[in-house]
Amino acid sequence: MAKAAVQFACTECGYSSGRWFGKCPGCNAFGTLVEEVLGKVAGAKAPPKPLLRLVDVQVEEAKRIPTGVAELDRVLGGGLVPASLVLVGGEPGVGKSTLLLSALQAMSAARRVLLITGEESVAQVKLRAERLGGAANVEILAETELDTVCETLVTERPDVCVIDSVQTLYSAELGSAPGSVAQVRESAARLLRVAKENGVATILVGHVTKDGSVAGPRVLEHLVDCVLQFEGDRYRAHRVLRAVKNRFGSTNELGVFEMTGAGLVGVPDPSEVFGRTVDGEPGAAVACALEGTRPILLEIQALVAQTDLAMPRRVATGVDPKRLAMIVAVLARHAGIPLGQADVFVNVAGGVRIDEPGADLAIALAIASAARRLPVVSGTAAFGEIGLTGRLREATQAERRLQEAAKLGLGRAVVPKGTPRHGKLKISEAETLRQAIKVGLDAAERAEGDDEAAA
Ligand SMILES: Nc1ncnc2c1ncn2[C@@H]1O[C@H](COP(=O)(O)OP(=O)(O)OP(=O)(O)O)[C@@H](O)[C@H]1O
Ligand SMILES: [Mg+2]
Repeated sequence: MAKAAVQFACTECGYSSGRWFGKCPGCNAFGTLVEEVLGKVAGAKAPPKPLLRLVDVQVEEAKRIPTGVAELDRVLGGGLVPASLVLVGGEPGVGKSTLLLSALQAMSAARRVLLITGEESVAQVKLRAERLGGAANVEILAETELDTVCETLVTERPDVCVIDSVQTLYSAELGSAPGSVAQVRESAARLLRVAKENGVATILVGHVTKDGSVAGPRVLEHLVDCVLQFEGDRYRAHRVLRAVKNRFGSTNELGVFEMTGAGLVGVPDPSEVFGRTVDGEPGAAVACALEGTRPILLEIQALVAQTDLAMPRRVATGVDPKRLAMIVAVLARHAGIPLGQADVFVNVAGGVRIDEPGADLAIALAIASAARRLPVVSGTAAFGEIGLTGRLREATQAERRLQEAAKLGLGRAVVPKGTPRHGKLKISEAETLRQAIKVGLDAAERAEGDDEAAA
């Protein structure tokens, strides 16, 4: 008897091979290769299909489906595209099921929507729906068998279907356990086909791994149209939804939610929540970052503490550690703020993560303010990219940022030289980081209690 074909696939990157490796040749991760049994390969010949020219393709009015959750619409690029496949990833308990149930609830008013739950019982979903204010029209199916799910979708053809979660689906044909690479890949591929052929906009919920990427092979991310990440501190109320991949819109968009007793509530004006500092407090600065089309003010806090460690620590929450190391080095080399003997901690308000270089200047200001024990001049926002030579570079879309700062009632902005002016906001231009720190810090005001420490 012929031996069953066995393959080993990496759970991190999807690399597959005929033999097992301790270290994945694809992504260099250790111990991630798992065995998977291949399904039978069909040998039947398929007839060729006639070709079309793009000009002859009939486009059915591909109107986006508003999800009823404004922040979700924003991240999707203006609503759900019919017949698309969206993957929503997030840590356990961050609120994926809650978010999608409220979206289904809103959409159920005008459309047929279906929730396929593999993680929770129907009764549990009902309890959550009651907390969210009832979702009477949402149809629900508790099922984990892939074939049944696909068949149901083909016969019922709902407009929108949420599958919570893709890791619970399994196909008996494949020998491996639910959640394994082979199962997740097969489920996503089958659902993709069903979604496209039957016009069902499908949202898959996916778990994330320790390092924050969506679990299962990378192929899943290639397969779907959009990948949304739901991030945030489980212990705090604010959650951030962002698009990692979007075939129908920008990937920089950001949605902000607050978890309340009645479910997730969108925060239409996050600057109001995250962008306020306490006047006269050293170690805090307001950054005006741009996330997609949305300018957002964020309080950045820094702590500089003397240390005896040979390698001082650079700890960042919400800022790329490499970026922080670079800023610390530029501060030391070009702005006269030696930090070689100090631990530096930086934190961005509200658990938001900044990837954008435009926030550099505010991070540097916060660190300089903490190191010098001088507060940033009150009512000041800052943005601009820091170069390795200590020179500041203009950030993109300065006007929108200044507009946002003015909207929140800030009176002044420290910006790189050459930034266009806007409105009544007082602009302090700086060519180098050293100048920016000079105009940014309030030398007249030395924080109380820190005097003897500074002396
Ligand atoms: N009554 C409540 N009041 C406030 N917050 C609540 C309440 N009930 C649940 N939550 C919040 O909802 C969160 C769980 O939401 P949800 O079940 O949607 O998460 P999830 O991302 O689907 O998790 P999992 O990955 O385990 O399925 C909890 O972390 C909790 O903060
Ligand atoms: Mg859930």
